[in-house]
Amino acid sequence: MRHDHLISARQLSRGDVEAVLDRAAEFDAGERVARDDDLLGLLFFEPSTRTKMSFDTAMKRLGGDTVDMGTVESSSVKKGESLADTVRVVAGYADALVLRHPSEGAAKLASEFVDVPVINAGDGAGQHPTQTLLDLYTIRENAGLDDITVGIMGDLKYGRTVHSLAGALTEFDVRQHFISPESLRLPKNVRYDLHEAGADVREHTELAGVLPELDVLYVTRIQRERFPDENEYRQVAGEYRIDADTLDAARDDLTVMHPLPRVDEIAPDVDETEYATYFDQAHNGVPVRMALLDMMLPGDGGDAR
Ligand code: NCD
Repeated sequence: MRHDHLISARQLSRGDVEAVLDRAAEFDAGERVARDDDLLGLLFFEPSTRTKMSFDTAMKRLGGDTVDMGTVESSSVKKGESLADTVRVVAGYADALVLRHPSEGAAKLASEFVDVPVINAGDGAGQHPTQTLLDLYTIRENAGLDDITVGIMGDLKYGRTVHSLAGALTEFDVRQHFISPESLRLPKNVRYDLHEAGADVREHTELAGVLPELDVLYVTRIQRERFPDENEYRQVAGEYRIDADTLDAARDDLTVMHPLPRVDEIAPDVDETEYATYFDQAHNGVPVRMALLDMMLPGDGGDAR
């Protein structure tokens, strides 16, 4: 894989994805490198637990270290500094930048101001390509990535993990079913891209009809922070919730995924079932981000001591 920046999952060919997942499997199996001099800049303008901590863990497990802007409240952003100025300065400290920002297009914009690789860790309701890589790793481990049927349910309108994943799945032989209320269906541009890619996709307002066909059910959180109107959020909150009883109709080998955090879309009783894969999915963020950093950072890691 040779990309200067990772902004969108659309940049990733099937070959790119396979190369990252294969490298991630090596890290999962204990492979170590020594990138002792490498520093990763963490710029998170929105809350994060997993994405930020797993990038931090991944860089440190590769032998390097991280420099962290911290919260917006504790940074000069609070004084009115522009995104362009912030990234230009931190690019002088670090060898690559990971950026999460509430505005769609922020990572692309940032990449135009710096010479080091920029990795998009979520730009508003846009894209979240590194989540997609760990999602694909999880799907490959549990169901394989060919001739499978995937259901993606919840907030398809604002969910950036959905937009990235749906696009990336078109590189594989995957049937995609989208399940959401009418008001939260996939945005037009995402549907257009799927159509252009010749993807096999269907949209539904109910899970029941399609559940028995699914190899993977990818559940998402309603993205409350992106609703312009709190009342609109309340109307859809609590819909599309699954519990252990819902899954009685599923295939025995169904894999239930969620990018996390969950609010109440997956009842805790699902955690005890064989279907639940979301905590393994979150753990996969470390080897996958190790692989990505190792492939995107300049130079090679050399041998671990
Ligand atoms: C997701 C995100 O930030 O888009 N979280 C994550 O990175 N795992 C999903 C979400 O917030 O619902």
